[in-house]
Amino acid sequence: KILILDFGSQYTQLIARRIRELNVYCEIYPYNHYPAPDESVKGVILSGSPFSVRDKNAPRPDLSGIKGKLPLLGVCFGAQYLAQHFGGEVRACNKREYGRANLAYIDKESLLFNGISEHSQVWMSHGDTIEKLPVDCRIIASTADVKNAAFKIEDEITYGIQFHPEVYHSTEGKWLLRNFVVNICGCSQNWTPDSFVETTVKELREKLGTDRVILGLSGGVDSTVAAMLLHKAVGENLTCIFVDNGLLRKNEFKNVLENYKELGLNVVGAEAGDLFLDRLAGVKEPEKKRKIIGSTFIDVFDKEASKIKDARWLGQGTIYPDVIESLSVNGPSQTIKSHHNVGGLPDYMKLKLVEPLRLLFKDEVRRVGKSLGLADKFLQRHPFPGPGLAIRILGEITREKVTLLQEADHIFVSMLQEEGLYNQVWQAGVMLLPVQSVGVMGDERTYESVVALRAVESTDGMTADWCHLPYDFLARVSNRIINNVRGINRVVYDISSKPPATIEWE
Ligand code: XMP
Repeated sequence: KILILDFGSQYTQLIARRIRELNVYCEIYPYNHYPAPDESVKGVILSGSPFSVRDKNAPRPDLSGIKGKLPLLGVCFGAQYLAQHFGGEVRACNKREYGRANLAYIDKESLLFNGISEHSQVWMSHGDTIEKLPVDCRIIASTADVKNAAFKIEDEITYGIQFHPEVYHSTEGKWLLRNFVVNICGCSQNWTPDSFVETTVKELREKLGTDRVILGLSGGVDSTVAAMLLHKAVGENLTCIFVDNGLLRKNEFKNVLENYKELGLNVVGAEAGDLFLDRLAGVKEPEKKRKIIGSTFIDVFDKEASKIKDARWLGQGTIYPDVIESLSVNGPSQTIKSHHNVGGLPDYMKLKLVEPLRLLFKDEVRRVGKSLGLADKFLQRHPFPGPGLAIRILGEITREKVTLLQEADHIFVSMLQEEGLYNQVWQAGVMLLPVQSVGVMGDERTYESVVALRAVESTDGMTADWCHLPYDFLARVSNRIINNVRGINRVVYDISSKPPATIEWE
């Protein structure tokens, strides 16, 4: 495998994704907290960073166990650190360099640039430049403006590159990364979804033996794939709990339970809608709603789980971005919304955690699901927030409002499906606004609610843009909602991106 040491760059995860796309396994660690490389580590990559190497408090990793011992590639900050720390000089550029550049020189003998075309486009993003390389370095690529765009330390397998091979705009960047991980480090390209399933199931069997495992299913991709892996490993010893919080989509509880039966999973359904809605009565504040839903979920889950005797493990569908976030150089980011509020269980349950997907990115979870034989209806489902419709009903929640929103949401989502648009949208839903407006139906004045349709494109939910759905489609959705859902007389479309808006309205 490859180790990636993270110095806090926004692109670190992209490096990992590119390498995994090459079917080579890699892991990300904070630069100041990484395990000593054992023989499974074939090479190390140093990421970029928001810091300048000249900053007083810039990261200064100890590379004594790595440099000169294993193949090493520094990217941007990583390259500047190698240059500066081992005898070269880095200074601020007169003009900062962001964006496209083309290579003007490459050393054809260099393994790293093997097969890369002469004027290959690369993506720069730096405010410092490497003025002078350490004495034992050789330049292996330059651009018109940046002489030391890439270098190799002679007598070592240590490389530095000023540009970012991991971003899409470095057109041959993936090839360069392939040169590094496959040709230079000697990794084999055998990390595939099938091999992941095989090794994970084997490891789970060893770890869990004949212990009983419980897992909270949400109907979403991650918990479903996690359940399937665990089921493959321990069979009947896995019990899944699916909680109906009364805030699911229309018919969701029934449909999801049926779908899971089809998969052969042992699922207990806990209908607790009344409890959730009673506790939420009169609550308007979004974070308070989340907290109530989180703690009620734990109460309900706990009650069901305690009926399962001798449970030793709690399975969870945690995925890699959450793991990286919690380990990250900058620490967990500021709480905008308290997601993942359904994570913890009371201490007294004494369950150990098992998280079979904790090393996968979302798209990899889907591919693993496919390799497990899961149908698209499971794998292509849009994400749906844990607190469900509660955070799509702005302000106070009532049973009537839930029903109203379920109807409108059902119309929007089924029309996306019917018209072949569902898979082009990353997430879609409807928001019920705490606003009444005047309308006219027939000869009568109406004074009813407004709903907002939300459909976004995204890859991970961190950033998102609104989908440019066809006008005539939006017109038909609006029409069908207003004509069929009593209590709604106006439909609007949300055209805000994230940031500065968020996907959900609360
Ligand atoms: P935002 O609204 O923060 O949403 O742009 C990003 C993604 O996260 C989902 N989301 C949640 N998921 N608990 C969850 O499990 C929550 O409290 C929560 N809030 C938002 C949202 O649906 C989107 O996919």
